[in-house]
Amino acid sequence: MRIKVDTGAFGEYLHYGAPLTLVTVHGEDGTVNLSTNVSITPLPGAVPRLAMGILHVNYTNKLIKERGEFVVNVLTDQMRSAAIVCGNTSGADVDKLALTELTLLPGTYVQTPLIAECPLNIECRVESVHHLPDLDLWVAEILAVYADEAWANDRAGINLKRYRPLMYAFGHTFTFGKQIGFGGL
Ligand SMILES: Cc1cc2nc3c(=O)[nH]c(=O)nc-3n(C[C@H](O)[C@H](O)[C@H](O)COP(=O)(O)O)c2cc1C
Repeated sequence: MRIKVDTGAFGEYLHYGAPLTLVTVHGEDGTVNLSTNVSITPLPGAVPRLAMGILHVNYTNKLIKERGEFVVNVLTDQMRSAAIVCGNTSGADVDKLALTELTLLPGTYVQTPLIAECPLNIECRVESVHHLPDLDLWVAEILAVYADEAWANDRAGINLKRYRPLMYAFGHTFTFGKQIGFGGL
């Protein structure tokens, strides 16, 4: 038997497993906003890209529209409290950088800073946007990816033995699972 799963009022519990991230965008006045985001997927193709869904009501959406760039910072499984704070407050009302006491590192190809405590940072420039009634789907070129030595290997890649992202599935958080395959699959 197969049951029909409840899609939920906002579909927010339908995420079937993805790393949780903090999206940073800089404001006009040197401020930086941080927002929890799970709706991000890398895209295949010759140019490295990702797609990201942001609700219209979020301050982050306004900032991305103005700046045309953002940084995706992958949270570690020790950073659940930052995900909660940045996912339940708006940069329109509060300074989330002050609230979380996270540290910034300068971006290289974007003016938006990276979050030092997040070991994986993806600098993005907006390529196109798809407007939906309640959200914008941003497609962005990945300009650079930086990995802290906590997660990096010595071949310019990620050391999966030390990779510990905060995972999100069906409304719950998890740590990264056990490796069961090697090579292509
Ligand atoms: C676990 C989690 C995942 C979230 N994922 C998204 C998302 O993918 N897209 C989105 O627009 N909002 C997402 N949110 C909600 C925003 O983080 C939240 O509305 C936040 O207050 C927006 O901040 P801002 O107004 O400063 O942009 C998520 C929140 C949580 C707690």
